[in-house]
Amino acid sequence: MAQQWIEGRVIERIDWTDRLHSLRIEAQIEPFRAGQFTKLGLQIGDEIVGRPYSIVSTPGDPVLEFYFSTVNEGPLSPRLSALKAGDAVQVAPKANGFLVLDEVPPAIHLWLVATGTGLGPFLSILKTPEPWQRFQRVVLVHAARTAAELTYRRTIASVAEAEPKRFSYIPFLSRETADYALAGRIPQAITEGQLEARAALRFDPAQCHVMLCGNPAMVEDATAALAARGLRKHRRKEPGQISMETYW
Ligand SMILES: Cc1cc2nc3c(=O)[nH]c(=O)nc-3n(C[C@H](O)[C@H](O)[C@H](O)COP(=O)(O)OP(=O)(O)OC[C@H]3O[C@@H](n4cnc5c(N)ncnc54)[C@H](O)[C@@H]3O)c2cc1C
Ligand SMILES: NC(=O)c1ccc[n+]([C@@H]2O[C@H](COP(=O)([O-])OP(=O)(O)OC[C@H]3O[C@@H](n4cnc5c(N)ncnc54)[C@H](OP(=O)(O)O)[C@@H]3O)[C@@H](O)[C@H]2O)c1
Repeated sequence: MAQQWIEGRVIERIDWTDRLHSLRIEAQIEPFRAGQFTKLGLQIGDEIVGRPYSIVSTPGDPVLEFYFSTVNEGPLSPRLSALKAGDAVQVAPKANGFLVLDEVPPAIHLWLVATGTGLGPFLSILKTPEPWQRFQRVVLVHAARTAAELTYRRTIASVAEAEPKRFSYIPFLSRETADYALAGRIPQAITEGQLEARAALRFDPAQCHVMLCGNPAMVEDATAALAARGLRKHRRKEPGQISMETYW
């Protein structure tokens, strides 16, 4: 039987806010593809409780990074957010998941659309060469409640510096306002055209592919809003323009 867990070691915990954290972990897992997830686990009582987490780091990075929120009532995430450098954590050695560019059919423009911690897999993808080899424009959309929750701004700024003409970052805020962010929620902004206007790019089914990640209600509502523009879910046997991963 394949090995279920290997022991990793926390080398750093980044606290973005009270409830948003990243863990940097040393663990020798099998090669993975940008956008995939693996499982993290901790011994709780007499069992290891494990949950899937997207890998923020890029294939080949010596350290694995994960970005997560603390769900107070959940069994695992509050314990993960209490880990500190030197602590042990269980890591599943084999990554999984189809939110990867290998699964995206040819397109001219790529939209990466996330709520909350759904940003993680897109950071991994953006740090690889592939999007820049395949797409003329890449738009990263990140929706959060508050400005403090628009995390990884430095990483995103370095992508923008490297690809100033082809990369756009469009933040959304739903419970605060800021002049640099669109207000409200992603599906409504798709329907009403604000997202396309901000990106100066149409959701044209002949040209674009959209990857959605995070809150399942956003994924569902955004899929419906994009369907009204003629985009449909991508399946290997029936190619479309929308790929997705939901976190709960
Ligand atoms: C494929 C996949 C990849 C995932 N990747 C990540 C990731 O990179 N980062 C991450 O934070 N979580 C991620 N999750 C969710 C994660 O696996 C856990 O469910 C989450 O950390 C809560 O764990 P828990 O044991 O504390 O509570 P659980 O019992 O697992 O969840 C309790 C409740 O918390 C809510 N919830 C779960 N995840 C989130 C979240 N991310 N943000 C807000 N509310 C949530 C849901 O309402 C859920 O029913 C992923 C889930 C899947 C299926
Ligand atoms: N963020 C916090 O300050 C905070 C604090 C304590 C606990 N929590 C708990 O943590 C959990 C997750 O919170 P989160 O903020 O990380 O993630 P989230 O609830 O998924 O919110 C992230 C972003 O997604 C938006 N969103 C939610 N549902 C949507 C939908 N159907 N369509 C489009 N956009 C949608 C939110 O807008 P809206 O704001 O309009 O929902 C917000 O801008 C929640 O259960 C929450 O109760 C959050």
